[in-house]
Formats: sequence, structure tokens, C-alpha cells
Amino acid sequence: MDNLPRLGVNIDHVATLRNVRGENYPSPLRAALLCKEFGADGITAHLREDRRHIRDDDILEIKENVDLPLNFEMAPTSEMMEIAIRTKPNACCIVPEKREEVTTEGGIHIQRNHNILYNLINELKKNNIRVSLFIDPSEEQINAAKDIGADIVEIHAGEFCKDVHLGLDFESAYNKIKESSFLASKIGLEVHLGHGITFESIEKLAGIKEIKEFNIGHFIISESIFSGLKDTIVEFKRLIEKGRMLA
Ligand code: PXP
Repeated sequence: MDNLPRLGVNIDHVATLRNVRGENYPSPLRAALLCKEFGADGITAHLREDRRHIRDDDILEIKENVDLPLNFEMAPTSEMMEIAIRTKPNACCIVPEKREEVTTEGGIHIQRNHNILYNLINELKKNNIRVSLFIDPSEEQINAAKDIGADIVEIHAGEFCKDVHLGLDFESAYNKIKESSFLASKIGLEVHLGHGITFESIEKLAGIKEIKEFNIGHFIISESIFSGLKDTIVEFKRLIEKGRMLA
């Protein structure tokens, strides 16, 4: 089937497992190479300010050795911008970052970070790096992303996924993603989706035809403990295709 959404695998938590014991295994590079072998369409990694999972060397090794587009997730800081420009990933996804959070809890608020984002986007684009902004599914943030010059929006899927996993009514959260995706695509932004996606939530999301890429991490690495990276990636790709076909 043509034009299926791409599956980007976020390998951060391979590094989490490595770092928790201070060893040099499991290797995020090895995971990224296997993701390619098993059909992933891209690799995503978030170099956090505190380096709690991915480290600078991981990013370089992956960029040099893995023949897949690299989506480099980063906070809007000059340190990260310099690393991005040196690394030249396919895209940078700008995310808000708080030291005390367990994971990226919400999207970035574009207006509140306008000046820093404006400068960052211009610098990255001058260096031929596509820029994605990780935002909540809101009309205001989609329009602001377009106005400030982003190429892509990655819409935060967390609220919808939580509702699905907890057996709650997910229609309202789903509609926000659907309407935001439609608007973003209509005004010329590429639409990606990420955060909290599992086998349970992917199929319905894959039915939103404006979505071009899913970035999925924690569940893939978790499920791989039981089923292996290969079966997990193959199953995600199957569910994406099924969700798209049924839509
Ligand atoms: N996309 C973005 C922008 C993220 O910050 C994250 C979490 O690091 C993900 C996707 C992946 O989320 P998860 O690990 O919950 O699948």
C-alpha cells in the first residue's frame, strides 16, 4: 500500500537500560541498526540536557552508521542547536524540557518561546535541517507553528493514548488530534504524531490520513523484552497498514 505513514523508532530507552548499570550494553547503535533491518523508517533520539539516556557519542555513532533518517529531539537551547548543526540530522524536533519531568509531558508553547524558537528555526533551516515542533493538538499552536516557519508539527498523542489505555472515553482527545492534523496539513505543515503510542492506540491513529510519521519509543523497547524488536516493529507496521486500510 502506497503512502503509509512512516514508523520512526525512538531508541532512548535502550540507553536508559544501559545507563542504569553504568555498562556499555545494550547499545543504542546496535538497536538502531536492527530497527533498520526489521523495517523501521527512521530513528529518533532525544539528547536531554541531563544526558539521562542518549549521550552525545550515541547521536554521532547513529548518524554515521545507520542509513535511516535521524530525527533529533532537542530542547530549544544554544547547546543543542550547535550539536544539531554539527550532526546534521534529517530533522530536529524541538521539545520542551524540564529537568524534573519523567518524560516530555506536553508540547512546546510557541508564543511563550517565540524569540528563541524563531532564531533556532532560522539557524537550523539555514543548515538544511528540517524543523519539527512538538505541540499539543490545538488550532492555536498549529497556526503559530506555521507562522514561525516550522516545516513539521509533531502532535502530542499522550492524552488520547492515556484515555485508550485506561478504558476511558477517547473521542474528544481523538477528535482534537484529527482536527489538528487536518488543519496542519491544509496549511502546508507535515504532520507527525508521538508520545505514549502502543499496539492498542496505533490503529485508530493510523486512520488519520494526514499523519505522515509516527515516532514511538517506550512501548517498542518495553514490548521487545517479551517479543523482540523484530516482532514488535513488524506488528506496528501491520497495525499501521490495517488502520489506514480500514479508514
Ligand atoms: N515524540 C516526542 C517528541 C517525544 O518527546 C517522545 C518521548 O521522548 C516520543 C515521540 C516517544 O514517546 P514514547 O516513548 O512515549 O513512545
